[in-house]
Amino acid sequence: MTNSRGLAGIIVDETKISSTKNAHLIYAGYPIEEIAQASFEEVVFLLWHTRLPNKHELTAFRQNLVEQMVLPAETIRLLLYIAKEPQHPMSILRTTTSLLGTTNDVEHDEPPKILAKMLTAIAAIIRIRDNEPLLEADHHLGVVDNFLLMMTGKKPSQQLSRMFSTVMILHADHEFNASTFTARVAASTLTDYYSCLTAAVCALKGPLHGGANERVFEMLETIKQQQIDPIVYLQDQLHAKRKIMGFGHRIYKNGDPRAVILKKIAAELAQETDNQVYFQIQTQIADYMLEKFKLHPNVDYYTALIYHCLGLQKETFTMIFAACRTVGWLAHIMEQRQENVLIRPCSAYVGPTGRHYSKGAGEIDE
Ligand SMILES: CC(C)(COP(=O)(O)OP(=O)(O)OC[C@H]1O[C@@H](n2cnc3c(N)ncnc32)[C@H](O)[C@@H]1OP(=O)(O)O)[C@@H](O)C(=O)NCCC(=O)NCCS
Repeated sequence: MTNSRGLAGIIVDETKISSTKNAHLIYAGYPIEEIAQASFEEVVFLLWHTRLPNKHELTAFRQNLVEQMVLPAETIRLLLYIAKEPQHPMSILRTTTSLLGTTNDVEHDEPPKILAKMLTAIAAIIRIRDNEPLLEADHHLGVVDNFLLMMTGKKPSQQLSRMFSTVMILHADHEFNASTFTARVAASTLTDYYSCLTAAVCALKGPLHGGANERVFEMLETIKQQQIDPIVYLQDQLHAKRKIMGFGHRIYKNGDPRAVILKKIAAELAQETDNQVYFQIQTQIADYMLEKFKLHPNVDYYTALIYHCLGLQKETFTMIFAACRTVGWLAHIMEQRQENVLIRPCSAYVGPTGRHYSKGAGEIDE
């Protein structure tokens, strides 16, 4: 048996959904640099069917998704209570994902409905936290515009809509990353979609995965507010043996292709929203990390600034990642179900052996 800690370099199963082979990210055969220009709905369809939709299919698919962007009254009633709690939004989302599984039809719900509910619930959590009224979907708009509208209260410009579509597409899937693998492990036991998604949200929450984007902005804010030299900040963190959030990747040792595209969007949005100072700090940090440690920014690095420019609170950043990655999670749950085999690896036991039990042996004699 092979022993690989963290399953590094281990191929666990086959997939037709996406690949990072040779550090090139492809979605069902299409390079990310090209497919990032498609519409979000086209990419969702692609990841779920491993082919692009025709015109009629796309229209019907989009319409169905948008029509489902509404929450049952009971979910809203409970959300109004849960989302006001002082817990981290990702904890609220974890509970909400599970809640969606009890206020919807857990046995029969299909991915389009489930994705629409997740996006709507995430937008609702943001609105409730901001003490703003919940908004209904506009059936004349697509999924991305509705998601932005229902989160921020503003209908996006064409340019913002295009940028955010790209951001959502770039986050939609990434083969067997930690949260997707978690979803597949759950799916392999033949549990329901909502349970698989709840497990995936739990895995995404951690700072080594989706939780990194919030920490990236925390770093930028500290540097800006306390007027610290970014290089001195980095040196202090590294001296204290802390990882610099938004850098490094298990697969991409020579750069994350998504970060290249996201950097351009961050630069443009920072310029438009008068946030150039953050972008300048990011550039200084990235140059230093590359020069000193050959570490490149990952998907979370520039995304943090993009979300800030959209007016979102940093605590909600990972929920946006979850909204996008729900597409990939659902794709992988479906694929796992198609040719299911229970995922159950082995461990190398390194604990003691040869012990014998006798009643009371573990108690301390007074
Ligand atoms: C993503 C990550 C978990 C990948 O981990 P991994 O593949 O297990 O790689 P390792 O953590 O073993 O890193 C390899 C080396 O680079 C260093 N390194 C990796 N990422 C680093 C970072 N962000 N800051 C400082 N050093 C880092 C490690 O300390 C290690 O050095 P060593 O060989 O001297 O011990 C890791 O890079 C990380 O923690 N990044 C910060 C969190 C983050 O941005 N997560 C989002 C990922 S998309």
